[in-house]
Amino acid sequence: MAKRTVLDFMRMKRQGEQVAWVTAYDYLMASYAEQAGVDMILVGDSMGMVILGYDSTVPVTMDDCISHCKAVRRGAPNTWIVGDMPFLSYQASDEEAVRNAGRFLKEAQVDCIKLEGGRRVASRIRAITDAGILVMGHIGLTPQSSSQLGGFKARGRDIDSAREVIKDALAVQEAGAYALLIEAVPPQVTQFIAKKLDIPVYSIGAGPCDGQLLICADMLGMYQAFTPKFAKKYANVSSVIVNAFQQYISEVKTGIFPSDEYLYHIKDNEEDFEKL
Ligand code: KIV
Ligand code: NA
Repeated sequence: MAKRTVLDFMRMKRQGEQVAWVTAYDYLMASYAEQAGVDMILVGDSMGMVILGYDSTVPVTMDDCISHCKAVRRGAPNTWIVGDMPFLSYQASDEEAVRNAGRFLKEAQVDCIKLEGGRRVASRIRAITDAGILVMGHIGLTPQSSSQLGGFKARGRDIDSAREVIKDALAVQEAGAYALLIEAVPPQVTQFIAKKLDIPVYSIGAGPCDGQLLICADMLGMYQAFTPKFAKKYANVSSVIVNAFQQYISEVKTGIFPSDEYLYHIKDNEEDFEKL
């Protein structure tokens, strides 16, 4: 399939065609995602937790993100890739936000960037958009600022909080974002926003709208530290891997591996090799 453009995502929204996307952080996972035919890939700063082993996304750096985006681009050359801006790459000023957003395109050939926040990052979204870069907003549960919310908590579950999420959604569109991701809010709030906005609205743990995102390490059953309520498991890859490693260990200890089929055979006379 030809690589998508922003117009394809607009058309999919108009025609009610669902967008199915996952995160990926490296060449291998990206190549599996492209083979499977996902509509797009997020190189999320969730890499901080599921790849780098931090207990939040806060320590992730621009260099981490660029390096992983490059690997994902090599693994998925024909898929729409969203580069996720890490903590402190856009919070300080519009100018820093534009420079860092630009790095994702110049160095890693992503198709757009994503950043967290609604009204309070509206000027960042405007500045990056004015630099000619497609921006996806991200509201609801925003992991980089989750300490202000008291942890990884769903948003919009009471009417005041729901109205705050809706104001953020409107601000993101108004600021020029081409799409919006909503995380961990009730479906009623998401539905309201998806009807109200012209841009595509995608969900992670926020119910039906224009498309669904899941973190690959959750949906594949790889990440063991924590699984969010919304993360349906489509496989149990961690147990496949641990079992394979265990079998390998046992075969090495008992001498079953390596057997003859895994050995290089000599091409000359056996006798010559006896006086090596
Ligand atoms: O980093 C990430 O994977 C994300 C999703 C949780 C939305 O931003
Ligand atoms: Na993220």
